[in-house]
Amino acid sequence: MRTLVKNGTIVTAINEYQADILIEDEKISMIGSKIEGTFDKVIDAEGKYVLPGGVDNHSHFEALNTDGVTLNAGYDTTFVALLGGTTTLVDFATNEPGMNLMDSIDYRLNVRAKGKVTPDIAMHAVCTDYNETTLDEIPKLVERGIPTMKMFMAYKPTALYMDDDKLFRSMQAAAACGMTMYVHAENPDVLNIYRDQMFEKGCTDPKYHYMTRPPFGEAEAVSRAITFSKATGCPLCVVHVSCIEAAEVIREARKNGAPVVGETCPHYLVLDKHKMDDPDFDQACRWVCSPALRDKEDQDFLWKCLNWDWLTIVGSDNASIPLYQKHWGEGDFRAIPNGCPGAGDRLNILWTYGVETGRMTRQRLVEVYATAPAKLVGIYPRKGTIDVGVDADLVIFDPNYRGTITVESNPTGVEYNIFEGLEQKGCTETVLLRGKVVVDHKKFVGEAGYGQFIPGKPYGLAYDLLKR
Ligand code: URP
Ligand code: ZN
Ligand code: ZN
Repeated sequence: MRTLVKNGTIVTAINEYQADILIEDEKISMIGSKIEGTFDKVIDAEGKYVLPGGVDNHSHFEALNTDGVTLNAGYDTTFVALLGGTTTLVDFATNEPGMNLMDSIDYRLNVRAKGKVTPDIAMHAVCTDYNETTLDEIPKLVERGIPTMKMFMAYKPTALYMDDDKLFRSMQAAAACGMTMYVHAENPDVLNIYRDQMFEKGCTDPKYHYMTRPPFGEAEAVSRAITFSKATGCPLCVVHVSCIEAAEVIREARKNGAPVVGETCPHYLVLDKHKMDDPDFDQACRWVCSPALRDKEDQDFLWKCLNWDWLTIVGSDNASIPLYQKHWGEGDFRAIPNGCPGAGDRLNILWTYGVETGRMTRQRLVEVYATAPAKLVGIYPRKGTIDVGVDADLVIFDPNYRGTITVESNPTGVEYNIFEGLEQKGCTETVLLRGKVVVDHKKFVGEAGYGQFIPGKPYGLAYDLLKR
């Protein structure tokens, strides 16, 4: 199958130029000016940008809570990522009840996601059952193509929570085999004290979620994880950085050569905590995520951090939690399942509020939404860029589109979109995944089960991510 994408403006993390792209089967075989020949399909991208397919380092489809109950929408809703220009999801495999880490990865890929996932998929391991096999499994995960693992420094006392002993030992083992450790960094004791004190005073509404998760609780845990990273030599990715205090800790560590990168998410860039002040629980609960949404000043600083490479990637942290599950916390904000949908809105938000406002160049957008995340999980250059020989994952992006975000225009797999009502400039028009058109003029035309597992290489935290 020979496909030609012609007349578009190609944007990569380092370049922007007009050229045609020839795709043969799943790969890009030629990039050049006015490519001629016979083709099975021709896509005219005149007036459009051609971006690499997005790589989302942070999605939770079909996540399990600690009782083994499925939270969040399932893998059959992963098409929402493609509609928003993300062609590779990096999802999380928590321990299945009674299973070790390796078997949980296999179960997730071969049972849970099988036949359903539409974008390509890579995986992070997530340890929720630390036991005598955990440290031995770390090098085996790396050999299996899972060079990243996440540990939660928060959510005490659930099974998600990992104490410092478990985290430090795991980072020692990870450093020895090229695994990058991901952390959800919040000090759980501080949060629990505030949360319980607030609840005991009769304060039960969603807004008390943000009031009891102070930025210093995030910054303290970030600082502890970085200290462990420096001591063990284990590369570290701090996910969902939400505030000035935490981002400043990462900035200082990177200036001093620590092997750490930080991720932020679209919701921390454009939404503020007052969304949770709505007296209607059914509305306010939608924005309950951890860390909590912060203030306008935090948003401004996070944009600045992205530009200066103090923060390196933007992941969605997609957790499409249906409203009936959010309602479990009616009367007790501590019981609202944490997380927000967003796998389909990463590119739209970065373009509209980054590129269109002059806060970010198109090249930097490509870097934070595709290239750097692909490097971090060891799937670059197969994913995350446009070049000869790489997977033909392309987004044809229409910069002239104007609209307003709704759950109908930008589906999430659940009843709501947290960016509802925001203006959108530019949109993902057509998407190719490994040479196949999977979104055509904003319509999903892919197939359930077309997504493939993409194994990652170790030492993904490549040297050039540590540039400063
Ligand atoms: O609130 C969030 N972020 N939910 C998803 C799970 C996590 O902590 O990343
Ligand atoms: Zn988290
Ligand atoms: Zn997450």
